[in-house]
Amino acid sequence: MLTLNLKDIKPADVQNYLQHAIAPRPICFASTIDKDGQVNLSPFSFFNLFSSNPPVVIFSPARRVRDNTTKHTLQNVLEVPEVVINMVDYDMVQQTSLASCEFAKGTNEFIKAGFTEEKASLVKPPMVKESKIKLECKVLEVKPLGTEGGAGNLVICEVLCMHIDESILDADNKIDQTKLHHVARLGGDWYARIDATNLFKVAKPNTQLGIGVDALPDSFRNSTILTGNNLGQLANVHEMPFVDPAFHDDKLKNIIQYFSINPDDMDKELHTYAKELLDAGKVNDAWQVLLADY
Ligand SMILES: Cc1cc2nc3c(=O)[nH]c(=O)nc-3n(C[C@H](O)[C@H](O)[C@H](O)COP(=O)(O)O)c2cc1C
Repeated sequence: MLTLNLKDIKPADVQNYLQHAIAPRPICFASTIDKDGQVNLSPFSFFNLFSSNPPVVIFSPARRVRDNTTKHTLQNVLEVPEVVINMVDYDMVQQTSLASCEFAKGTNEFIKAGFTEEKASLVKPPMVKESKIKLECKVLEVKPLGTEGGAGNLVICEVLCMHIDESILDADNKIDQTKLHHVARLGGDWYARIDATNLFKVAKPNTQLGIGVDALPDSFRNSTILTGNNLGQLANVHEMPFVDPAFHDDKLKNIIQYFSINPDDMDKELHTYAKELLDAGKVNDAWQVLLADY
């Protein structure tokens, strides 16, 4: 295990390790204006949602590690405390990256990157027409985190209004997670694309507590077949399940029939079958298979 004391390594290396480790990060494509009304558009992946009531997001244009200069976006929000945050999806990612070039002050990156300006309803900076979700925001506070190169500046934004493209909505006007192909920033030049092939669900009952891995039988916890993820699924039930006499399963019947003379082999077979069921999301069935051992 490599242990790094961050005070002992160069700021550029600190940035490199942290950006690879704290990933993936969503991308805020921030549209701002200066006091003369000149438009700027730049991406920031030091960005997230921090509160929904009030609705608050934060992004961070940092001082450059290289020469400690500040970004136009930071200068703009200090002059005009408004921003449109345009969410970045796969269809926009190359143009978004292009907009991150260090163009001279006063250069409009909408034009440089080939995006279309669209008038916002409550704030002065324009929205990116091509983005499927736009957040019109008021800047509540800008909090500098330091004065050296690499120091972030938290731009704390209250979201006033959201615009959501109808193509990513479901029948209830909610965002269909499978339809929005978010991209996220990782370390170096790496990005991730979210789509239906890499999305999965994790059941999380908020009101009922899971029994916990410590409450599982030793034979589950010491299994060489069940993984940490499998134990997490089994331990998420809110009470220890009982054998269900109505549960019928041919494969389970066969395992019991063929392996009952050798308990070790039977354990192995049952755990392998339970793992198969858990990996398919069938937690109740997996419990019934594992309980057949008792
Ligand atoms: C996807 C992506 C994410 C970025 N995230 C950040 C960030 O979180 N903070 C930052 O200071 N710079 C970030 N950058 C670099 C800025 O976009 C870049 O410095 C840009 O030139 C700033 O523009 P401005 O000076 O017009 O504000 C990122 C660049 C890309 C391509």
